[in-house]
Amino acid sequence: MKEIKKIACIGAGYVGGPTMSVIAQKNPHIQVTVVDLNQERIDDWNTTDLSQLPIYEPGLDDVVKEARGRNLFFSTDVEGAIDEADMIFISVNTPTKTYGKGKGQAADLKYIELCARQIAKVAKGDKIVVEKSTLPVRTAAALKSILDDTGNGVNFDILSNPEFLAEGTAVADLHHPDRVLIGGENEEAIQSLVQIYEAWVPRERILTTNLWSSELSKLVANAFLAQRVSSINAISELCEATGANVDEVSRAIGHDSRIGPKFLKASVGFGGSCFQKDILNLVYIARSYNLTAVADYWEQVIILNDHQKLRFAERIIQTMYNTVNGKKIAFLGWAFKKDTNDTRESAAIYVADHLLDEEAQLVVYDPKVTAEQIYRDLDYLKTRSSADNRRLVTVVNDPYEALIDAHAVAVLTEWDEFRKYDWMEIKQMMKKPSFVFDGRKLLDAKLLRQLNFEYYAIGE
Ligand code: NAD
Ligand code: UGA
Repeated sequence: MKEIKKIACIGAGYVGGPTMSVIAQKNPHIQVTVVDLNQERIDDWNTTDLSQLPIYEPGLDDVVKEARGRNLFFSTDVEGAIDEADMIFISVNTPTKTYGKGKGQAADLKYIELCARQIAKVAKGDKIVVEKSTLPVRTAAALKSILDDTGNGVNFDILSNPEFLAEGTAVADLHHPDRVLIGGENEEAIQSLVQIYEAWVPRERILTTNLWSSELSKLVANAFLAQRVSSINAISELCEATGANVDEVSRAIGHDSRIGPKFLKASVGFGGSCFQKDILNLVYIARSYNLTAVADYWEQVIILNDHQKLRFAERIIQTMYNTVNGKKIAFLGWAFKKDTNDTRESAAIYVADHLLDEEAQLVVYDPKVTAEQIYRDLDYLKTRSSADNRRLVTVVNDPYEALIDAHAVAVLTEWDEFRKYDWMEIKQMMKKPSFVFDGRKLLDAKLLRQLNFEYYAIGE
């Protein structure tokens, strides 16, 4: 078996950065270099002030502190890192295509292909190439063909090693994974990667499969998780119509060991960079094999999620006497979930967009998201001019500034701190009647009703 002395990882994003930091932390004898084309991102990974790392993840600063400069390096020298490495992880972004065939559904593999061509060009010795990015099933065949056809006659072994970490808990997920999945054809290459994970993951949690099962399992895992959220969100609407309480329903069904308690929290809709993208990708693949019933089935997960976001916005408008024009609505939270500064596909963006169409005045507070990011998210939709987004949306660093004189509060992200606010004081500050729309069922409903808030939560 080939002993791995040097690893390169292309892509220093939400996956490449934390994953490689933990691999380096647990394998001090292996040199790990994470490379990216984005100079600013690399500079941020090299910052001496660890609170300024490009990604906010609890515990990540300690891991980086331990390994960086010892056997963990961040650099923009992509070719240098490829040249030196025995094993190369590809951890670049694989967004949904925004053009051409498969637009709006298929994964855009242009970044993956660029990596493959660069590896082929630079490699002068045998390499193990590991797919860390989430990819359509059978991408390894395309990678292999590019590497072999454009390379310098060296041998490439391809492995699929999808990542299952969730943002906000990335370090804990990496330290204690439910499983590590490695797909491949060459047993020796597989064992080289198994050995790296064995430094801290119990052997029985390291699963090995063929390439296609591994690639497909990643898409299927995300589809199943998202499906659970859409399922409980569908039930939340039924709860609102019938007088049942969705948290009580979740608790009741979650006690069935066959169903289990996790991922049954009703919400304003799932966000994040991957659930929607990966399901769309699955739908696209199914359609490309003419499996229409399969594609339609999974597409419903997305349709329901879009419905949930719109429904929440509509609920706000209807409850506030069918007009939010000129009304100040405080948004608590913008990130797609707590404990992350990531806003990709966050439900907050779409709820805000709908309310802005009605000329609401939004004041947004999120403990980790910057004003620039919030405006970028809204501008990206191209629903209205950037000047209009700035006219209608204010971003503040102090939550109480958002709440003063607000007609309504909308909770979009389940940050713990929102629960701890002085809601009695907030009641004094807000306009009357004071509406609270809790898209996360986060706040103390009983207390808020006692304080005479008009309190509405998803699913009750
Ligand atoms: P990201 O956008 O945060 O990071 C990708 C990085 O790759 C960027 O910094 C970009 O500059 C860099 N890059 C792109 N092309 C490059 C090239 N040719 N050379 C060097 N650098 C290049 O993306 P991410 O969230 O880390 O996701 C990466 C992959 O992992 C995706 O396929 C995603 O589906 C998957 N994934 C993400 C998560 C998550 O929680 N974000 C979890 C599991 C899997
Ligand atoms: C998800 C998966 O959980 C990871 O295993 C996977 O690696 C990752 O996608 C990926 O491939 O990118 P992530 O998107 O970071 O991780 O976060 P989740 O905790 O899964 O939450 C996703 C969304 O669902 C969030 O908006 C969250 O608020 C929402 N959610 C989750 C609910 O509304 N209810 C729940 O019960 C759980």
